[in-house]
Amino acid sequence: MTTEERKQTRICVIHGPNLNMLGHRDKEQYGNLTLDKLNKTIRTFAAELDIEVSIYQFNSEEKIIKTLHRSRKSFQAVIINPAAYTHYSYAIRDAIELLPIPVVEVHLSNIYEREDFRHISVTKDVCIKQFYGKKEDSYRDALRYLHDHLDKSS
Ligand code: DQA
Repeated sequence: MTTEERKQTRICVIHGPNLNMLGHRDKEQYGNLTLDKLNKTIRTFAAELDIEVSIYQFNSEEKIIKTLHRSRKSFQAVIINPAAYTHYSYAIRDAIELLPIPVVEVHLSNIYEREDFRHISVTKDVCIKQFYGKKEDSYRDALRYLHDHLDKSS
């Protein structure tokens, strides 16, 4: 297949609550990263893989769910950092589960080495993969994983 014939891969990236406050959050977990810096890095990683990304950040569960519902129409996959919703939102879990496109969960910090409540992800089992603990590189790993996954399944 030539480059022209290959459909441009489009991935929706969703950041959950409080990730707009990166830069003001626990430096030990999130370093000096701001959301702006993170998004620039995600765009660079995506461009290297010839992936087009649309990036959203929402503090509300409703907006995350609506964006997940809509993503089925325009994207081949979703990368989501549900932030604190990871640990208790069955509504977001259900929204991921009903999607016909693959979803990858990411976390900047290592949720398994933090407080007990963060060890549980209610969303991970409906995602095809979870990456955590590598700050912005968690997103790079997710993009690479989806790049290979979509390539294999096309
Ligand atoms: C986080 C981890 C969550 O426990 C936390 O509530 C966040 C960010 C992460 O990216 O490491 O807001 O999802």
